[in-house]
Amino acid sequence: MAHKIAVFAGDGIGPEVIGEALETLTLVEKRFGLNLACEQALAGGCSIDAHGVALTDSALRVATESDAVLLGAVGGPKWDDPQSAVRPEQAILGLRKELGLYANLRPLQVNRHLVHASTLKPEVLDGVDLIVVRELTGGVYYGRPSERRTGPDGREAVDTIFYTEGEVERVMRTSFELARKRRKKVTSVDKANIMATSRMWREVANEVAKDYPDVEYEDVLVDAMSMHLIRRPRDFDVIAAENMFGDILTDEASMIAGSMGLLPSASLGEGSRGLYEPIHGTAPDIAGQDKANPLAALLSTALMLRLSFQHEDAAQAIEAAVDAALSEGYRTPDIAQPECRLVGCKEMGRLVRERLG
Ligand code: IPM
Ligand code: MG
Repeated sequence: MAHKIAVFAGDGIGPEVIGEALETLTLVEKRFGLNLACEQALAGGCSIDAHGVALTDSALRVATESDAVLLGAVGGPKWDDPQSAVRPEQAILGLRKELGLYANLRPLQVNRHLVHASTLKPEVLDGVDLIVVRELTGGVYYGRPSERRTGPDGREAVDTIFYTEGEVERVMRTSFELARKRRKKVTSVDKANIMATSRMWREVANEVAKDYPDVEYEDVLVDAMSMHLIRRPRDFDVIAAENMFGDILTDEASMIAGSMGLLPSASLGEGSRGLYEPIHGTAPDIAGQDKANPLAALLSTALMLRLSFQHEDAAQAIEAAVDAALSEGYRTPDIAQPECRLVGCKEMGRLVRERLG
């Protein structure tokens, strides 16, 4: 039986990095005797241009009928008009919600060859190995009302943060289960001193923690967490956070690794289907110039092979090939250093494939 993969390359550098990911999957397919059936569809700005909406029903169907989704990135200045009712980001929010992908896993390790690429001191980086579990289908991203309107004092706007206890519980369970397979520590992030949703989050998180006495547990306020994350990143194993806190903290965390271009992510729900995407955006400033770093996209395919298709050997082969290319000094511009072997997106993809054998 073929594994069906829905592919949304998206906008900006999305098609460039996904192009490398697809070529790599084709090679992995041959080498490991897999049967992968990829179907491409439009999402984001490219879909707005073609169909007037960020995600059509038929594109969504490609995703709901797949075993896994591979996504590049969506958005760009062309579609940034704040007055517009259609926005590229609606595609990604729609996919996450419609597929029920409530847990967004963003692993982060510091590659020993790339310590220089981080703005942090080497002694802070040594041994960092953490994973952020970001709640992905709730919070302010989906809360209603979310609107602009006119009130007695002129322009007004409102956004809503809403969570049910069930939404908090399931993502906390994902976090604790993950911690059990790792270093057995969960740090839950909230703003319980200010927000009602955070106070409920903390309450539910503490209840779930009781079911995992073997896992160390702590609550940390999000502002303090943003500080601890860059002061002592080694102390964290699994970090659980609501949607927007997780969004912000993972951009910050990417600087520990050195570049957003290195970090993959997996979004999971109840079944084995997942959505896999680099955490970076569309980088419009370098789009179409063969300067993007394809490694986050390649590492996202490794996560797909591991988590949705249970092909651990193929996943590890990709990760090892990425590591080999880096250890030999090949660098895309985002992680360049003096005396490195500077390469573009295509060449980096080719080098990884060459090392896959
Ligand atoms: C991310 C991105 C998205 C988000 C945007 C593009 C909607 O920043 O995946 O982190 O905010 O979730
Ligand atoms: Mg983000």
